[in-house]
Amino acid sequence: MQGASVTLLKSHCQPTVLTLIVASGICVRYDSGVITPSIYIASDHGGLELKTRILAYLTTSVRIIDLGTNDAASVDYPDFADRLCSEVLQDSNGQGILICGTGIGISIRANRHVGIRAALVTSELMAEMAKAHNDANVLCIGGRTTSLENAIAYIKRWLSTSFEGGRHQLRLDKLDRPT
Ligand code: RB5
Repeated sequence: MQGASVTLLKSHCQPTVLTLIVASGICVRYDSGVITPSIYIASDHGGLELKTRILAYLTTSVRIIDLGTNDAASVDYPDFADRLCSEVLQDSNGQGILICGTGIGISIRANRHVGIRAALVTSELMAEMAKAHNDANVLCIGGRTTSLENAIAYIKRWLSTSFEGGRHQLRLDKLDRPT
């Protein structure tokens, strides 16, 4: 994290770092054993309830950094997309989960960051393909359109899928070209 964003985070969203997860079986294995990747998560007020339920559900092995919002006050989803994307782009192992009411607005904003590949998913297959073909480093979910059960299923599928590379890498290389 860098200066300005740290100040903002501390004063406005009180990020909580939780070492959680894996009632759900989510973990990442490296040669030296199990390592805890960083998963950043953020929402606007429309995604807060689902974010809270996701955090309560996941219980081991992945390090989750909650970047807010943390109360029901109306906020602007681009601010939270920006906050999360900034963290993901600075963390070589970082991935993110963004939630707004539909997942639409927050995914639109996230994809304006060069290097961010944000995928709004509404099925387990989309979550899998988002990683396998698009190497999505941010998963977007609709808080008002997605059950907890489905959200957890999407997250698990996304985290447990590997990018296929090859021809897909050639396409990813074109994503951040100027239009
Ligand atoms: C907020 O009411 C709502 O517009 C937002 O959460 C999201 O759905 C926008 O795409």
